[in-house]
Amino acid sequence: MDTGGQYCHLIARKVRELGVSSEVYPSDTRAETLRHARGVIISGGPASVYDHNSPTMDAAVLSAGAPTLGICYGQQLITQVLGGEVRKGDKGEFGLAFLDLRVNDSRLFRGLTDHQKIWMSHRDLVAAPPAGFRVLASTTTCPTAAIEDAERRIYGVQFHPEVVHTTEGAKILRNFLFDICGCEKDWSPANRIALVEEQIRERAEGRSVFFFVSGGVDSTVAFTLCLEALGSERVCGVYVDTGLMREGETKFVEETFAGLGHGVVKIEHAEEEFLGPLEGVHEPEIKRHIIGEQFVKAQERIMAERGIADGSWILGQGTIYPDTIESGGTSQSATIKTHHNRVPGIQKLMEQGLIVEPLADFYKDEVREIGREMGLSATLLDRHPFPGPGLAIRCLCSAEEHIVSRVPEGWLVPVHSVGVQGDSRSYAPVLAIETFPSAAAKLQDEATELVNRSRGINRVMAVVASREPMEKQRVFASSITHGRLELLRRADGIVRQMSHDSGFDAKVWQFPVILIPVGAGESRDAIVLRPIYSVDGMTADSVTMPDDLLRAMAAKILEIPGISGVYYDLTHKPPGTIEWE
Ligand code: XMP
Repeated sequence: MDTGGQYCHLIARKVRELGVSSEVYPSDTRAETLRHARGVIISGGPASVYDHNSPTMDAAVLSAGAPTLGICYGQQLITQVLGGEVRKGDKGEFGLAFLDLRVNDSRLFRGLTDHQKIWMSHRDLVAAPPAGFRVLASTTTCPTAAIEDAERRIYGVQFHPEVVHTTEGAKILRNFLFDICGCEKDWSPANRIALVEEQIRERAEGRSVFFFVSGGVDSTVAFTLCLEALGSERVCGVYVDTGLMREGETKFVEETFAGLGHGVVKIEHAEEEFLGPLEGVHEPEIKRHIIGEQFVKAQERIMAERGIADGSWILGQGTIYPDTIESGGTSQSATIKTHHNRVPGIQKLMEQGLIVEPLADFYKDEVREIGREMGLSATLLDRHPFPGPGLAIRCLCSAEEHIVSRVPEGWLVPVHSVGVQGDSRSYAPVLAIETFPSAAAKLQDEATELVNRSRGINRVMAVVASREPMEKQRVFASSITHGRLELLRRADGIVRQMSHDSGFDAKVWQFPVILIPVGAGESRDAIVLRPIYSVDGMTADSVTMPDDLLRAMAAKILEIPGISGVYYDLTHKPPGTIEWE
């Protein structure tokens, strides 16, 4: 049960990794709705149980019979609901801590040693557990690091068993799932394939499925599932070259789908349909909406051209579980970005039951597992994710010209990018610092500190190379043009080639390359490198690159006429997001 923390999904994924089916519900879901649950886990979240409008729960869940485990905020919520006391601690406890067990007979902690590493992130704590509870463990800061009422099978932990930093976290979850809840290890993405195909047939009800494929993992796996479920006569795949694709992408897609049989996927060239409406647009959310709606229009046009009648088709999409979350798809989550497959035109089709999303319940790594099981090639499945709106959200624009100003920490560059802070959206300028992001410098820690300290920024980047000194740099008025997209494509092509040849691409989860309208003289754009590591895209770490590779890459990018400099994004997610828009 989700109390608003983005980490909630990490818990759901951990449970699935242990072979147990799990679903995420809003924390205030009624007990009746959860009747099918073998066990309930309440997540952590950013609120305080005493805040006005903070997430609540139906107390009946606790007496419905399924064992319950509250994590962090979840433990505090259980405490409050059952009449115990929660209060603000004298100090916070963030990061690594040590857990000392106070008892040795709790089923939750079976097999654990008396003293171990855990991960904490809280200030509030349980001051008095509810009647019937006993304390299982403590840390030097938190006397109630774990509590239980063994008879009612209700458990709480203040720390986070779902993160890798809690050494015995998986053991604790295993104890809860298998010993306390009596679950069986019987879930895996691969053994859900037959069920998913059955769901596709049910949803299609004899109709055909129209599918936009992008060459990415999600749409290819979803498309292949539809092909298997309905046969190639009833599935129409279209790849649209939106003019926002990377170098060589259209060719890659042609070759990939040629392997699936002649004519299964048609290539459509629609550059002007997408680039025209984007002219003069600067706002990320507006860009996202325009692109999403252009896809709906393209689909209407293509179907009309092919004489496919309304009522005889539905639209297939490769949406995965986390996509629906950050688009504000669940009641507790804020809209960070509108994904191209959640714009109003698509929402309307959803309301009419005209959309099928075979992967809507799966996480990225699970999608890859399904793809492997279906025999798709590793070249395709191991590709880094690439966003549906394409290079449009990596080609930053500015309505006006601005100066780059000196601030005590570095240079304030008024190019706005999207961030996620305290589980909400931010849109703020970026700070540039003039330290080379050498692997040894650990600038990422400094970046976190800078964003936390200063209110006006949500991102920090390091200057790697620049034609002119920072005092000469300006932000230029700019929008999406063929010329700027070409600059971005060339730089992105260089980055992809060099990270592939050096093996660096296997060490990162994704490596966006961003064009920002910053420069001096005739060179009016710069490139930002954003290699990140992530498990599911919900949170991410900015990763360092070998110095030699970075220097060589920057030098090669600077050879592109019109490129003024190369920067390196040092920001984790949160507070930044992976893409800049
Ligand atoms: P952010 O930027 O929100 O990105 O941290 C998280 C992951 O989602 C991808 N992304 C998208 N994928 N349509 C997509 O198919 C979209 O509109 C979209 N926006 C972001 C992003 O590349 C990253 O992997």
